[in-house]
Amino acid sequence: MYILGIETSCDETSASVLKDDFSVLSNVILSQDEIHAPYGGVVPELASRKHINSITYVVDESLRQAKVTLEKIDVFAVTQGPGLIGSLLVGLSFAKALSFYFEKPLIPVDHLQAHIESAFIENKDINFPLLALLVSGGHTSIFFMQEKLNYQLIGKTRDDAAGEAFDKIAKFLDLGYPGGPIIDKLAENGDSKKFHFSIPRMTDSSLDFSFSGLKTAALRIIKENKLTKDHPDCVDFLASFEEAIVRTLIFNLNQAAERFQPQSLILSGGVARNRRLRKAFLNFSKEQGIEAYIPSAKYCTDNAAMVAALALEKIRTQELASVPLDLNAYPRVFPFKGKTWKK
Ligand code: KG4
Ligand code: ZN
Repeated sequence: MYILGIETSCDETSASVLKDDFSVLSNVILSQDEIHAPYGGVVPELASRKHINSITYVVDESLRQAKVTLEKIDVFAVTQGPGLIGSLLVGLSFAKALSFYFEKPLIPVDHLQAHIESAFIENKDINFPLLALLVSGGHTSIFFMQEKLNYQLIGKTRDDAAGEAFDKIAKFLDLGYPGGPIIDKLAENGDSKKFHFSIPRMTDSSLDFSFSGLKTAALRIIKENKLTKDHPDCVDFLASFEEAIVRTLIFNLNQAAERFQPQSLILSGGVARNRRLRKAFLNFSKEQGIEAYIPSAKYCTDNAAMVAALALEKIRTQELASVPLDLNAYPRVFPFKGKTWKK
């Protein structure tokens, strides 16, 4: 059996073909970074227009690389939400049309669940219960999973996402877009102790995150020290800022691990590419004696392989519905309630 996954939730157009043994035959990702770079962030209208221009090519290319034709695809899968509504609708409409025309089932997939699933693409036997720390440009969340497809959202950001904080500070310093990978590179040679950041703590016992305070503190330090991208202290500032974000993430993960006693930990999402975070996550897991899993870079940022993989997982446990032509996209995080999540 072959499954074709489509992902267009934000600014990457992606299509991927998987076999039912979860082997990835292709995973084509067309980034829109160049289009959004002049604005220092994703412009929703430009993103959806670009998806419309790219989707046919990206799907064709994924089939070509997988050496299969559309007629051979048994199931279609697509990201339904959360994300930019215009972008989501491009992928969803395209997938619906394919499903309708070829009379094959269409499996809608949640973007956050797909990010968690990305860790399973390369590691089939991750032990449950587990905690998944999902860190991306739009989300910073911790999920507790007792078993496959059972998601409990136990912590989320109350304001900015971690990736968004990286991108905004990079924009302010005119470093380029997206800011996360640029800061990762520049911070490598910086002294992370040079500038002090207090780590945000929730006053209640919540496992939620908040990054807007760190961002404001960063802007204050930039102004007080008259930092620019060419300032000799800039790399130290970036390393200190990156360290503060990493410490915030690991602090909450630690709290969650104490409460939920997981057997495994997953780190996923675009920011999971960050080297300082990867290192801190692996060190933490080692200290705690908990198994740790991070997808390789190509499965961290938005990609359709994780969409197809999650759909395959759903096929094992859920009945395949007929073509749901009235299926709609949802822009915001879904209220996860274990296995029974439904709109
Ligand atoms: O998962 P993703 O592709 O999109 C969302 O679902 O949001 O994540 C994109 C985010 C951007 O904010 C980008 O700056 C960040 O991931 N990112 C990084 C790195 N690579 C990508 N952040 C820090 N270090 C990196 N190496
Ligand atoms: Zn994402």
